[in-house]
Amino acid sequence: MKSIVIAAVAAVAMGAAGAANAQEAAAKSAGCMTCHDVSAKKMGPSFKEVAAKYKGKADAPAMLEAKLAGAKGHPEVKAKGDELKGIVKWVLAQ
Ligand code: HEC
Repeated sequence: MKSIVIAAVAAVAMGAAGAANAQEAAAKSAGCMTCHDVSAKKMGPSFKEVAAKYKGKADAPAMLEAKLAGAKGHPEVKAKGDELKGIVKWVLAQ
């Protein structure tokens, strides 16, 4: 019984890490990392800087998704829909 519980907890923990990795991979394949880095400034601000700027702002995910999807004031990006939503969530979690 105990081992089943441990296995379940481990699976949940790995699932959460897996989701973050998938979003990071999506950011890479969408080309975000050409102009961004998690912690260093490149052509665009670092994602840690972006996360700090929007910390505690409830409307930030929707605003950033619209900005990136509409390519208004930001270079056009390849990701859209749920993929873009996941990437923005990952960016704001840095
Ligand atoms: C061609 C280069 C380029 C690519 C590719 C790119 N960005 Fe950017 N990004 C920028 C620049 C330059 C800025 C700073 C100007 C601005 O805020 O739009 C920026 C700003 C941002 C911001 C902050 C916007 C704000 O209003 O504070 C976010 C978030 C962001 N990018 C996310 C992404 C994501 C996610 C992707 C991939 C889907 C991506 N970027 C791809 C160049 C790029």
